[in-house]
Amino acid sequence: MDRKEFLRTLGLGSAALWATYCLGGCKGEEEPAPNELPADGLILDLNTAQYSSLKNNGSHVTLADYKIVVARTTTGSYVAVTKVCSHEGQVRIEYIPSQNFFECGAHGAQFSTTGQGLNQNGKNGIRVYRTEINQAGDILKIFNS
Ligand code: FES
Repeated sequence: MDRKEFLRTLGLGSAALWATYCLGGCKGEEEPAPNELPADGLILDLNTAQYSSLKNNGSHVTLADYKIVVARTTTGSYVAVTKVCSHEGQVRIEYIPSQNFFECGAHGAQFSTTGQGLNQNGKNGIRVYRTEINQAGDILKIFNS
């Protein structure tokens, strides 16, 4: 019996159950902290409308819950980086396909597809997540490291 089931056996209503459940550590059990992915990786099905654009070179999607931008570069590789800028922490990193790099809309920090800073505001680089595409090219996994 897990913790949630145990609390249910005590006869707590859903609101009380949720409050009690969360007191003990909701943060780590229900919702991952921003930028932290599930331990076994995040799976994107590129056959779904939400992610199908990632089948095309030069496209990108934002995973708002995780503050991550995922791009299929102009050369066809997948790159996932944080949307949180290392300059002043604004959540404005976007993929710029015409330049094949990432840029922050706040003050113009630029980052390569490997996360290296390309200008003064980007000098600290950005976090890059490991990605893995299946052989069929339609299931993309993103990992913390
Ligand atoms: S916060 Fe991104 S460039 Fe300043």
